[in-house]
Amino acid sequence: MEKKKTSIVICLGSSCFSRGNKENLEIIKAYLKEHNLEDKVDFKGELCTENCNKGPIVKINGKIFQDVDARSIVEILNNYIL
Ligand code: FES
Repeated sequence: MEKKKTSIVICLGSSCFSRGNKENLEIIKAYLKEHNLEDKVDFKGELCTENCNKGPIVKINGKIFQDVDARSIVEILNNYIL
């Protein structure tokens, strides 16, 4: 059986995007490339889910991470993806 891909969903709603997900998006893309994970991860964006006050929001396999910034995103990826 094929292993299920890890899912990463980044909120691209204007609030999350302007407060950090613009940078987080680039960081995640570069991270997946650097670690050769582009085939193993299903990375996509979503629209605002009305969690803006807790944003920027990133979800990994359905788990919601709040207040994600350029530093915490790398820690999250190291813990959940590698
Ligand atoms: S913009 Fe991300 S939850 Fe609203």
